[in-house]
Amino acid sequence: MKVVHTIEELRDQLRGQLRVSFVPTMGNLHQGHLSLMKLARQHGDPVVASIFVNRLQFGPNEDFDRYPRTLEVDIEKLERERDVYVLFAPHEKEMYPEPQSYQILPPADLGGILEGEFRPGFFTGVSTVVLKLFSCVQPQVAVFGKKDYQQLMVVRHMCRQFQLPVKIIAHETVRDTDGLALSSRNRYLSEHERAEAPQLYACLQGIRTRLLAGASNPDELTQEAAAFLTARGWDVDYLTLRRQRDLCAPSPEEIRSAEPLVILSAAKLGATRLIDNLEVF
Ligand code: PAF
Repeated sequence: MKVVHTIEELRDQLRGQLRVSFVPTMGNLHQGHLSLMKLARQHGDPVVASIFVNRLQFGPNEDFDRYPRTLEVDIEKLERERDVYVLFAPHEKEMYPEPQSYQILPPADLGGILEGEFRPGFFTGVSTVVLKLFSCVQPQVAVFGKKDYQQLMVVRHMCRQFQLPVKIIAHETVRDTDGLALSSRNRYLSEHERAEAPQLYACLQGIRTRLLAGASNPDELTQEAAAFLTARGWDVDYLTLRRQRDLCAPSPEEIRSAEPLVILSAAKLGATRLIDNLEVF
């Protein structure tokens, strides 16, 4: 695997390649990331991965400074798996040589709700860096995890809006054996918090089971689950049932007629904010 830090080196490595498959990450790679790379390999060759902790998508009180940066270990993991041909790990000056004056602002009805409401500017930061990374790598295919469900939708929407010739492939969320979705932020959890963390997914599963059994009262179900988590010490930002196609709330008729839905949630356990989701129907 070649490790490159500049756009020039990256372009040298990729010259003439027509089936580039790309996985953008912020590093601190875990099994979830590694399976994105495996899926990328099924859809193109060569596979390019990037590791870049994008300041623009972090709020002023978020964890940009303490976000785990583990490049050497990440490289070892990628070398072991042998799925990635080039790792692009740019320095900040390479991606943002001057203050970023053009930014990609997703529409408020997609980028301003849920995560966008609790993390203002987050999807502007993500969209801007993903567009820049696409411009550097020029992939034909890019793989994103469903764990960041809304991010996946924002990226797909951006590709449609700008006619980007990149096929976006979604990978199912990778979970630990107890159900906790893998995330670089799980490493912030204390032992006690780590033991509690799977309760979030358990709540989503409980709601899904009841919807599949015919329940058509999503507000009751989600409020009950949020109250359950709050009583156990969680601070719930949102826990809500939405349509998969646009993340709007479904009507009772849509719930009865098995419209594809998704339960989305974000909640803090101590200082750590976890997100998760589960598709229904
Ligand atoms: O999901 C992530 O790791 C990041 O949001 C991404 C897509 C790499 C953009 O910085």
